[in-house]
Amino acid sequence: MAVANGTAALHLCTMTLGVKEGQKVITTPITFAASANCVRYCGGDVVFSDIDPDTYLLDIEKVRQLLTSSPKGTYQGIIPVDFAGRAVNLEAFRALADEYGLWIIEDACHAPGGYFTDSKGITQQCGNGNYADLAIFSFHPVKHIACGEGGMITTNNEEHYKQLLRLRSHGINKGDDQFLNDIDFANGVDGETTYPGWYMEMQQLGYNYRITDIKVRLAYRS
Ligand SMILES: Cc1ncc(COP(=O)(O)O)c(C=O)c1O
Repeated sequence: MAVANGTAALHLCTMTLGVKEGQKVITTPITFAASANCVRYCGGDVVFSDIDPDTYLLDIEKVRQLLTSSPKGTYQGIIPVDFAGRAVNLEAFRALADEYGLWIIEDACHAPGGYFTDSKGITQQCGNGNYADLAIFSFHPVKHIACGEGGMITTNNEEHYKQLLRLRSHGINKGDDQFLNDIDFANGVDGETTYPGWYMEMQQLGYNYRITDIKVRLAYRS
């Protein structure tokens, strides 16, 4: 799903995964501010875990130490960052996250086209959704694909996708998902005819985080 920028993408992800006041999320300190700020936007607390100095990626053993030294349920999720084109081994992070019931947002802003090789020898492209719940990209001018400002979220989870669509556009459902009201389109609301396509429901508080069509075309061309 295309969005206004990578920061908006991260914010929509933390909203979709239900980050709340006081909940703890682990990320790396070696990243851009937005990878951590997205947790704060939802009232959550950021816990930085150190990197592996050889790869500059979040050190999974350090994350494991954090998790084992606190009661289960202390942490809600992990935001690993693919750094400078180098991809995090999300297969390993997924196994650890599952042990502790955590979600994963892959910040793949630095790594479109990047990949790691999994334990079966299969190439796993950044943001392919096989291990992370959600992944995000940025199309900021310094990124590999640029369109002024822009971003993208990828997921293989249909429910997350529907939630993201609503949150990107004011929390309004235009018919991409089930309406809450049981509208009889032939006879309408209060006797007035209601046309499918014109009927919308604002189901939750969302934002205008859409990317413009003009920028989407620019990104295609670059
Ligand atoms: C790792 C990382 N995450 C998130 C972002 C935020 O992206 P944007 O600048 O499009 O909001 C950036 C971009 O600078 C980044 O490098």
